[in-house]
Amino acid sequence: MDQLDLNRRGSILLGDCEVLLATLPPASVDLIVTSPPYADQRKHTYGGIAPDQYVDWFLPISAELYRVLKPSGSFILNIKERVVDGERHTYILELILALRKQGWRWTEEYIWHKKNCYPGKWPNRFRDAWERCLHFTKEKQFAMYQDEVMVPTGDWATTRLSNLSETDKVRDNSRVQSGFGKKISNWIGRDMAYPTNVLHMATECGNKQHSAAFPVELPSWFIKLFTQPDDIVLDPFLGSGTTAVACVELCRRYIGIDISPEFIKIAEDRLSACYPKPLQLFIAEETNGTYNS
Ligand SMILES: C[S@@+](CC[C@H](N)C(=O)[O-])C[C@H]1O[C@@H](n2cnc3c(N)ncnc32)[C@H](O)[C@@H]1O
Repeated sequence: MDQLDLNRRGSILLGDCEVLLATLPPASVDLIVTSPPYADQRKHTYGGIAPDQYVDWFLPISAELYRVLKPSGSFILNIKERVVDGERHTYILELILALRKQGWRWTEEYIWHKKNCYPGKWPNRFRDAWERCLHFTKEKQFAMYQDEVMVPTGDWATTRLSNLSETDKVRDNSRVQSGFGKKISNWIGRDMAYPTNVLHMATECGNKQHSAAFPVELPSWFIKLFTQPDDIVLDPFLGSGTTAVACVELCRRYIGIDISPEFIKIAEDRLSACYPKPLQLFIAEETNGTYNS
């Protein structure tokens, strides 16, 4: 199979990502952000993997992802374990351990709080309003542009900073010797602060063409945090093209793969709709070269 031309603004590939990832050169991608099929969940729409087989199914794919990611890159895995026989299955926990054995560093876990999740009643739990966004890296040092995702400081600053204690005015070092510390008075006069690792975002209401689409806001946040314009972002389970749309909006290059011709068509349609007019022809030309496994 030919190697993919990375000078394109964007490429959408139709086929099994385990096969198609082999067409990418090693250490060529800056960020991977993706939401794979959840175990068994959508068997009737696009195939499901039994929870007990999930780790074995995922590892050959993540080995390819490791190969194509740059040493400075990040891999964001949006996933949530399902309930099997009345309890949470452990395949995500097992996957994290297996990925670490494969060489990945489990750098962080962000929580996507789905703030508009619909109400309901379950006999043994409450409605599920969050998903994991696991952050893996190859190295301890990696590209991260924290200033790009700063948030307004908010009302807490007015209250908290108007009445500073003596401790607030000096650096308060961690009592557990972690090396971390805080100096509250540093925040006086600042309008913006760094966010937490909990992302409060509504599920997409406009995109009804894919049963498991994430909102554009979700990949956009990670793309801003971990890449710069013109960097390459890969989504090996592209679905309706949300990650690619985010890349277009943020001037990043993208590579998207999906096994379903139906979803590839939806992704292409979404992309041609969101490109500014002069770019539309260019993209039509680019996607003509859709790869087949
Ligand atoms: C959870 S959905 C992704 C949804 C996507 N984030 C969006 O916003 O539309 C997972 C996708 O993985 C695709 N898929 C499943 N197995 C695949 C494989 N082996 N290679 C590539 N794509 C696959 C499915 O067709 C499905 O569209």
